[in-house]
Amino acid sequence: MSETLLCIEHLKKYFPLKSGLKKNAAFVRAVDDVTLDIHAGETLGLVGESGSGKTTLAKMILGLMEPTEGTITLDGMDIHDRGRRKELSHCVGAVFQDPASSLNPRATVYRSLERPLELNGCSKGDARDLIYETAEKVNLGRELLERFPYELSGGQQQRVSIARAILLKPKLLVLDEPTSALDVSVQAQTLNELLDLQQKFGLTYLFITHNLSVVRYMSDRICVMYGGKVMELGEAEEIYGHYRHPYTLSLLSSVPPLHPSQRERKKVLLTGDMPSLIGELTGCRFASRCPFAQESCRTEEPPFRDLGEGHRVACSLAETLDFPNR
Ligand SMILES: Nc1ncnc2c1ncn2[C@@H]1O[C@H](COP(=O)(O)OP(=O)(O)OP(=O)(O)O)[C@@H](O)[C@H]1O
Ligand code: SF4
Ligand SMILES: [Mg+2]
Repeated sequence: MSETLLCIEHLKKYFPLKSGLKKNAAFVRAVDDVTLDIHAGETLGLVGESGSGKTTLAKMILGLMEPTEGTITLDGMDIHDRGRRKELSHCVGAVFQDPASSLNPRATVYRSLERPLELNGCSKGDARDLIYETAEKVNLGRELLERFPYELSGGQQQRVSIARAILLKPKLLVLDEPTSALDVSVQAQTLNELLDLQQKFGLTYLFITHNLSVVRYMSDRICVMYGGKVMELGEAEEIYGHYRHPYTLSLLSSVPPLHPSQRERKKVLLTGDMPSLIGELTGCRFASRCPFAQESCRTEEPPFRDLGEGHRVACSLAETLDFPNR
């Protein structure tokens, strides 16, 4: 098994509600006791519907948000160690959904790339060499470096964001919906370029998306989140072929099957909304929408357990449920 690059243990992020300034104020449990490893050189795909806690988890990994509880270590270093903030800021890079809003509209591409290098004490000459080298890695023509963001297409803007994210040679790249704001025609090209980049330079990705076809295409392992918790985790093919969690089943039911013979298979579509993540929560987070829920599911929280070969699931009935094959 490959070595662990990032280790997340019992991570929680509870946001206090604005109205709850009093004692015993209520919290939104955006991330609630997540334990997870990311292996060096892999792509870990993170999926789950809106509000499941993906971006909150990403922001804590990026050091942009302090956890309420729990730890994140990268190569053995605590991500939130204030004394090592500068060193750690090089270790994790980020690409977000909307490239236009993450670039300074008043700076040329070259200047946007030069600024972080300048802040890290890089000389003008070294910065120029590194910018040219990185632009080449992401297929960003040199002629585009003197342009402003509004003079670039969405795909070109996202290449600039990717270049900026890898400029300081991070160990981990967090990609939060990196292609969902792009035209469909540019999405596939950007995904392929990301895969190419990973293969050439041995990068490690945390790839966040709503799109289950995209996550399958991109990922070595897949992590399924719901209501701030990890519901299922495992090798991508294992999750797609032998998922054991009812939530994964309903997520996959919404994706067209790969093989025409499976078109008639039974679908388990999600109804209703995700439950509130406020206040005391007991039992399984998915119980209010789970077609297999039993009385005990509402009172006992299912442990996140290993079914073997790193396939982990948070459902007490995982072994007994009869799922349609994919
Ligand atoms: N700064 C904040 N203050 C209070 N609540 C927050 C804050 N940020 C996120 N939340 C809440 O935490 C939960 C998780 O949000 P998060 O943005 O992590 O979800 P997500 O999985 O990234 O969703 P999406 O797929 O829509 O991007 C949501 O209920 C959200 O409303
Ligand atoms: S523990 Fe119960 S409610 Fe939760 S996913 Fe499993 S069967 Fe459904
Ligand atoms: Mg998000």
